[in-house]
Amino acid sequence: MSTPRVLVTGATGFLGRHLLGVLRAAAVPTAVLVRDPQAWARQDWVAEAGPVSVFEGSPQIRTPWLNAPGLGGVKTIFHLAAAVSHSRQAAPADDFNVESTLQMVRAAKEWGARLVFMSSSGTVGCFRFPRLVADEHSPFAESLAGRWPYYASKIRAEREARRLADKLGVELVILRPPVMLGPGDHRLRSTQHVMKVLGGNLPVIPPGGMHFTDVRDVAAALGRLVTLERPRAVYHLPGTACSLAEFFHMVGEVSGMPVTERRVPGWAVKGVARLTRRHAPGWMPDPVLLEMSTCFWGLSTLWSDRELGYTPRAPRQTLVETVAWLRAHHPALRDARG
Ligand SMILES: NC(=O)c1ccc[n+]([C@@H]2O[C@H](COP(=O)([O-])OP(=O)(O)OC[C@H]3O[C@@H](n4cnc5c(N)ncnc54)[C@H](OP(=O)(O)O)[C@@H]3O)[C@@H](O)[C@H]2O)c1
Repeated sequence: MSTPRVLVTGATGFLGRHLLGVLRAAAVPTAVLVRDPQAWARQDWVAEAGPVSVFEGSPQIRTPWLNAPGLGGVKTIFHLAAAVSHSRQAAPADDFNVESTLQMVRAAKEWGARLVFMSSSGTVGCFRFPRLVADEHSPFAESLAGRWPYYASKIRAEREARRLADKLGVELVILRPPVMLGPGDHRLRSTQHVMKVLGGNLPVIPPGGMHFTDVRDVAAALGRLVTLERPRAVYHLPGTACSLAEFFHMVGEVSGMPVTERRVPGWAVKGVARLTRRHAPGWMPDPVLLEMSTCFWGLSTLWSDRELGYTPRAPRQTLVETVAWLRAHHPALRDARG
């Protein structure tokens, strides 16, 4: 196996899986940093990843992977690993998102590598009203998204990593995608909204927005950053923005599942979120999810299309292929039809 030129963290995740496919197709010698090599080897899609070098360790902890002789030739680090949870109960896990990113800046310094950090559109593109958008120059949306631990951790990770990278002279590229959909979400995290429709589990529709893109188009854009000579500091990867009602109806249409028009007003969702903030009963959505479902997500880009060749496919195609994959891989959803 050739000496790795690229290191991927979060390789066992939804985006990691697709990025490994892109790197394999481009014949880029690749290493993955995983916390459990046995779990890595057990994944039913591991053959798709091709011949990658596997290193054991946590991106949050400096040794011993940092000194592994096989990693000295790494020139691009893709830091995708993140604790993704929309709850205030998850605050300690969110520290991982900051600490691991700072550790990756130090690794990039050690190897003279470029660091590509996967952040989120929510750090800047979260609004109280529809039709507003954030581009790469927009400020952090701290007053809204900063109330939620996951987005707060991504804002903190971006800010602290930028400060450290500037101090150490490390090239840091930050990417901000919205919700990613598409085939291959083996953890069933990103595609939860689609699963709700397929499982006939959508009691009411909140008033907020949805913004989604295709995971395969994000992975392809990431792949360009292995060779792009002078990347920008930040790239947005916008997709389709719509209301939650429009989104659920689109999923209903492509899947043949009926979506009942039971909208609930914003004041009611916010009221329930406030009441359950301290003690949310297990059967209710987390108050963070309720709060998020009253907000709108708007994103645009000044340069990702030209520089990363990022042109997301038609949203309908993404939804059709997401639904087909979920039905094929989750028998409980297979036969549910309207
Ligand atoms: N999915 C989306 O819609 C979306 C949208 C915007 C931004 N993003 C960002 O894109 C990146 C990839 O997302 P994804 O959807 O591919 O995530 P995912 O499927 O949930 O995978 C998360 C990855 O992070 C690793 N990880 C989590 N906690 C860890 C810890 N404490 N120590 C070591 N590894 C840990 C997991 O490894 P294990 O297998 O060991 O658990 C897994 O490889 C993340 O940074 C996420 O914040 C995602």
